[in-house]
Amino acid sequence: MSTTSQCRICDGTVTEFIDFGRQPLSDAFVVPGDEKKEFFFRLATGICESCTMVQLMEEVPRDLMFHEAYPYHSSGSAVMRTHFHELAKRFLTTELTGEDPFIVELGCNDGIMLKAIAEAGVRQLGVEPSGGVADLAAAKGIRVRKDFFEEATAADIRKNDGPADVIYAANTLCHIPYMDSILKGVTTLLGPNGVFVFEDPYLGDIVERTSFDQIYDEHFFFFTARSVQEMARRNGLELVDVERIPVHGGEVRYTLALAGARKPTEAVAELLAWEAERKLSEFATLERFAANVKKVKEDLIALLTKLRAEGKRVVGYGATAKSATVTNFCGITPDLVEFISDTTPAKQGKLSPGQHIPVREYREFADDHPDYALLFAWNHADEIMNAEQAFRDAGGQWIRYVPNVHVS
Ligand code: SAM
Ligand code: TMP
Ligand code: ZN
Repeated sequence: MSTTSQCRICDGTVTEFIDFGRQPLSDAFVVPGDEKKEFFFRLATGICESCTMVQLMEEVPRDLMFHEAYPYHSSGSAVMRTHFHELAKRFLTTELTGEDPFIVELGCNDGIMLKAIAEAGVRQLGVEPSGGVADLAAAKGIRVRKDFFEEATAADIRKNDGPADVIYAANTLCHIPYMDSILKGVTTLLGPNGVFVFEDPYLGDIVERTSFDQIYDEHFFFFTARSVQEMARRNGLELVDVERIPVHGGEVRYTLALAGARKPTEAVAELLAWEAERKLSEFATLERFAANVKKVKEDLIALLTKLRAEGKRVVGYGATAKSATVTNFCGITPDLVEFISDTTPAKQGKLSPGQHIPVREYREFADDHPDYALLFAWNHADEIMNAEQAFRDAGGQWIRYVPNVHVS
């Protein structure tokens, strides 16, 4: 086992700061009886000494994660539907106002963002390798190409459709280790004044909130303004805007343009200064993060063990990909958490990866409220807790572990 690896951005040395050990694929919910077929890998994270990009030490083959049965459906959250609708409206009134504008989205999933673009009659293309969700997007009238975006895909799109005014990716770019190919593709496909906009979980929020469950197989990179600026520079692009956004536990929306095409906003310098002040890219900061993670693990297991000893019922809420890291790293067994309630049909009736906690439909939670709900979908906390007044009225309490273990 090596505690260094080669950086996927600059070939520099990546040094490990946290090791979660053997972990399953976070979205590979297990059909009962298939427990022995699970794929495991070593989940560990390090920082590149040269370009400061934080990344996984080991890569999982993409076809194991993104395939016909990829279970994550973006439209499952009302807050996210509003979030993407607002962004689509913004694109329609800013970047997509020229003659016959064109937008390409990487990882369009079930069409949550492109729906409003298609309805406005603006030329669009979603590039989505996971067949099941791609079909859902196509059923909404969106043009979809079932493919992985990479250099060759981008060249083909440029040949058929011409340059893009906007290339967009939400919660997708950080999933892709082969960044070299992606950024070559982006520079090929982007029009001279086009923008490449992407939003992903922000390392600044992960460190501040100890939200270690953002680390799992699909999240390969953990971006900062500094590492993205460096990544852009190496590939003929420039970071021209950043925006902190509250979704999914804290993200940043980055805007890249071809180098020299646009003037960077004040926000870029401000976020870079904020990161420098917090020493976000320093090894000691990340070691402190790792120590905080260990404390959350100990506190959570102590609480769940105590509740079990008291005979209380605890049910998980939201079989998120993130929960795979929490349950497997902390050792949360079906003995401690009876089942996980989730509204996604593709997850129901299956077992959680690794720990094999049953995933059941929401009705089972609502019909027989437990004493405690362990909020795995903490990134949707406001939406969920507002909707669960009946659970609260029945005396139910929430267990949360971000930024620390607490009951409310
Ligand atoms: N954009 C949606 C959102 O924010 O809710 C979906 C995000 S989902 C977590 C990541 C998506 O990226 C998956 O639907 C997956 O199939 C897709 N994906 C993975 N690799 C890709 C690639 N190389 N090109 C395009 N999409 C990719
Ligand atoms: P995410 O954190 O990756 O967005 O996943 C959220 C998961 O939680 C997804 O499987 C759907 C589920 N979920 C519920 O079961 N109920 C809810 O109210 C919400 C918002 C999500
Ligand atoms: Zn590097």
